[in-house]
Amino acid sequence: MGDPSMATTRETYSPFTLTLHWVTAALVLTQPLLVWLSEEMSREDKSQWIGVHKSIGATLLILTLIRLSSRLAGNKAIPLPESTPDWQKLFARATHVLFYVLLIAMPLVGWAGSTAFGREVVWFGLFQLPPLPFVPEDREFGGSLMGLHKYAGYTLVTLVVLHILGGLTHYFVNKDNVLQRMLPFLPRRDQAIEPARHEVV
Ligand code: HEM
Ligand code: HEM
Repeated sequence: MGDPSMATTRETYSPFTLTLHWVTAALVLTQPLLVWLSEEMSREDKSQWIGVHKSIGATLLILTLIRLSSRLAGNKAIPLPESTPDWQKLFARATHVLFYVLLIAMPLVGWAGSTAFGREVVWFGLFQLPPLPFVPEDREFGGSLMGLHKYAGYTLVTLVVLHILGGLTHYFVNKDNVLQRMLPFLPRRDQAIEPARHEVV
């Protein structure tokens, strides 16, 4: 197989990691859409849409815990290519860590907010989540929690934008195979032909 560093740049994530990543991405993007679209609706419809938002939020909590356990159990991220500038490596790491923190904290804060308001959280109409322990029923506290939830949501949306810009930087600027790890159907850059290209230039 030759040069081992080349084997690394050719790798993609496993179907398990790819599925978790893309299901998470789709659900994360659905979350603010559901809330913002629900604002135009009647009271009853709104509460149904927010019910779906809560159910998806609880699902994201489970998916993120599965993903994190798998990471901690040794299913490591593929290291970035050596050619990646150090500041980008640091930025990518910070973004990924913050994603995990927010994907765990946001559902918990939302759930705590519902508890404080004395509202139910029913997972897709199938079963009811218990109120979170140690959270008092207090509307003012609930309001603060939902304020936190809102700003965490804005932070998450900003991170998604930065994360996408990061992926595009790998593809169009660094011209490596990092974006292809998560989008395996994209054409790969064959690093082996690079020296030949340099000779032509
Ligand atoms: C919308 C919500 C998204 C979230 C929450 C998210 C989250 C993450 C996280 C936490 C990682 C770290 C790897 C891991 O732990 O599995 C990751 C990796 C990655 N994501 Fe996303 N992602 C999202 C959307 C996207 C989109 C739209 C793209 C495409 C532009 C993308 C491209 C990538 C790539 C290429 C990696 C691999 C980076 C590497 O191998 O170092 N992600 N994502
Ligand atoms: C990762 C999961 C979650 C994300 C990304 C998320 C994101 C958001 C965002 C962006 C908003 C809109 C904030 C605004 O502009 O006012 C929102 C509102 C809200 N979220 Fe979440 N959320 C998540 C999980 C949850 C969970 C698990 C619950 C409850 C169990 C919940 C309950 C609510 C409620 C009640 C609102 C306010 C809706 C209204 O305007 O009445 N969220 N969420």
